[in-house]
Amino acid sequence: MRVGVFQFAPEFGQVDANIARVEAALAEVEADLMVLPELFNSGYLFESKAEVRSLSEEIPQGNTTQRLMRLAAERNMVIVAGLPEYDSSQDKFFNSAVVVGPTGYIGKYRKTHLFYKEKVWFGPGDLGLTVFDIAPGLRIGVMICFDWFFPEAARSLALQGAQIICHPTNLVLPYCQQAMLTRSLENSVITVTANRVGSEQRDNEDLRFTGGSQVVDVRGELKFRLDEQEEKVAVTEVDPARALEKTLNIHNHLFNDRRPEFYRNLF
Ligand code: ACM
Repeated sequence: MRVGVFQFAPEFGQVDANIARVEAALAEVEADLMVLPELFNSGYLFESKAEVRSLSEEIPQGNTTQRLMRLAAERNMVIVAGLPEYDSSQDKFFNSAVVVGPTGYIGKYRKTHLFYKEKVWFGPGDLGLTVFDIAPGLRIGVMICFDWFFPEAARSLALQGAQIICHPTNLVLPYCQQAMLTRSLENSVITVTANRVGSEQRDNEDLRFTGGSQVVDVRGELKFRLDEQEEKVAVTEVDPARALEKTLNIHNHLFNDRRPEFYRNLF
C-alpha cells in the first residue's frame, strides 16, 4: 500500500488557490492514501470570528470537500485533509478533517484537543476519536495536530483497530515529529503526519511552521521525513497487515498486557 503526504505552505484565505495547488500536486501521484495538512485550504492564523465564518464550510456539502471528492475519484485514492468546518445545525465551527475516497465521502473528524487561540475560534470536537474502514480489512484513524500531545488519542484509535493514523498538522513546536515514533511503536500502528511549511504573520502573532512531514512504521521506523521548508509530495510503501500484529514476543502483547484497572485518574 502506498501512503504519502503533500507538505506545502497554504496561503491564508486563498481557499481556491490552495485547493488548486493540491489538485496540481496530486495530479500525477500514484498512491492509495494521501494526507494533507491541518486547515490546508484556509491557513491557520485567524483574526476574527467573521474570518472564521467566511472561511469555514459545511462537510460534506461545501466546495472544498466536493473538490476533494472529485480529486479522490480521479486519482483513485483516499484523501485525508484538514479544513475549518461550519456546522449549521449547531451554528458552531470546528477544526476538522475529512476522509474522502474513490467512491465519495467517507467521514469527518473534529479536533478534540484545541491548541492556543484555536480555543477562541473553534468548538472542541464533539465526535470523539473515530475510525473509518477505507477498504475491506483496512481501518484508519484520524487525529489533528495537538491531539498528538495526548497519548490517549492515538491509543483510542489503535484500540478501535486503526492500522494507520492519519495526522494532519500545522506544527509550530519542535517535539511532535520525534514523539510520533513512540506513538507508532507503543501502538504498533503506521502514522502519517502531514505538516505544513512557511510562516504566517497575523493577529499580532508570527508563526513559523516546522515541516518535517513523515511516515512512521509500526516499530517506530521512520520511512521518510521531509525537511523543515520544502514543499513536496512524498510517498512510501507500507504493509498495514503489520499493524494488526500487537505481539512483541511470546510473553508480551501490547494490548492484552494493559492493566487499565491500575491506571488511576485516567477519567
Ligand atoms: C496545532 O495543534 N496546530 C499546534
